[in-house]
Amino acid sequence: MQNVDAPGVPTRRAALKLLDAVLRRGLALEQAMDNAAQGLAPNDRGLAHAIAAETLRRLPDLDALIDSATKQRLPDDAKARFALRIALVQALVLGTPGHAAIATVLPLVDGGPRKLVHGVFGTLVRSGVVLPEPPALPDAVALRWHAAWGDQMIEDAERAIAVPPPLDLTLRDPTAAPALAGKSLMPGHLRLDEKGAVPGLEGYAEGGWWVQDLAASIPARLIGKGQGRALDLCAAPGGKTLQLAANGWQVTAVDVSESRLARLRDNLERTGLAAEVVAADLLDWAPAEPADAVLLDAPCSATGIFRRHPDVLHRVRPSQISEMAELQTRLFARAAAWVKPGGVLVFSTCSLEQKEGEAQLAHFLANHSDFAIDPVRIEELPEGVTPRADGSLRLLPGLLADVGGMDGFFIARLRRNG
Ligand SMILES: C[S@@+](CC[C@H](N)C(=O)[O-])C[C@H]1O[C@@H](n2cnc3c(N)ncnc32)[C@H](O)[C@@H]1O
Repeated sequence: MQNVDAPGVPTRRAALKLLDAVLRRGLALEQAMDNAAQGLAPNDRGLAHAIAAETLRRLPDLDALIDSATKQRLPDDAKARFALRIALVQALVLGTPGHAAIATVLPLVDGGPRKLVHGVFGTLVRSGVVLPEPPALPDAVALRWHAAWGDQMIEDAERAIAVPPPLDLTLRDPTAAPALAGKSLMPGHLRLDEKGAVPGLEGYAEGGWWVQDLAASIPARLIGKGQGRALDLCAAPGGKTLQLAANGWQVTAVDVSESRLARLRDNLERTGLAAEVVAADLLDWAPAEPADAVLLDAPCSATGIFRRHPDVLHRVRPSQISEMAELQTRLFARAAAWVKPGGVLVFSTCSLEQKEGEAQLAHFLANHSDFAIDPVRIEELPEGVTPRADGSLRLLPGLLADVGGMDGFFIARLRRNG
């Protein structure tokens, strides 16, 4: 007889596949979605994603609970551990009634330790356990960030993982705000009071705005308005291309990823903004002539966007950070060659690793005597955010925490001698 899952089980099976993809195979959660959630209805797909993402936010605490209730420690990759994580996160975080949380998860360990999973779950839930607030960071991340940034950053990061971030919009025309409730933390920015499905929001179809975290909007803001030629390097899916085009620049947007460029083209079409789009590897490609402004939003570990993508906390290894840093150094040097004398170069990474920020800038300056930092001014930033003493910008998790925070970033603006 064919084995048919009871209602709700395929969604938990998909959540388990997602966690397996991130934790055992090192894939990004979003990258794993299509395969893991195949065949699920959109709502169930959303639920599978929410279960997996919430598990990743709370993983060290969930594991500590599980370990407190098992005589022998379950191996990290044991199916029973995955099943318990999924059952517990539903019962303790997502508000699923205990019986439903466990009933939909037990089939995931069919032929395995069902009794153990049932017993551990029952013991914990009956004892009224709660997960600690704020959640703990994984040990390896906490050690690395503590060494780089100290105690306060760890506290701030822990508070920041607890909840998914707010939804920020960048407005095509800063003077024409859509009829959506929210607060503006900078001109042309709107932080929505309520999150909803983006395509259904007022003004989406007309292209009056695009979704972009406030921090991610700063690199292009530092280039400002202009009419000359701008290169947006590593451009897809295109938030910064749209900003530059809306600010009057003749933009050439380059990225190696065809699939991400398809999203950039959709964004251009929706907003009615124009840019030349080039699919190329920047290690081979070069522009026909230098530009007035160059923005390099370099590929990185993406540890700065851990609030939206909690998988980065668990899958990014130090060796990957070093590899990305090497690529950034090469891209930074290439980008510099394409800046006109007197022109501007902005370098950014959505990373909380100094190797992908401060160290890149130091190395660049040591090797490019024809460039100097063009210091970011306080009036170019949201209230409460200040540049570093050298004029570059380090955005850490505690910033603007009372109004929903912002992603982690490193940003530097440089000017080529005229
Ligand atoms: C941080 S994301 C860019 C986000 C984009 N700037 C935005 O604001 O929407 C980094 C991008 O670098 C691209 N990339 C990575 N290596 C590249 C290379 N060698 N040449 C060109 N693009 C590359 C990736 O495809 C990815 O889209």
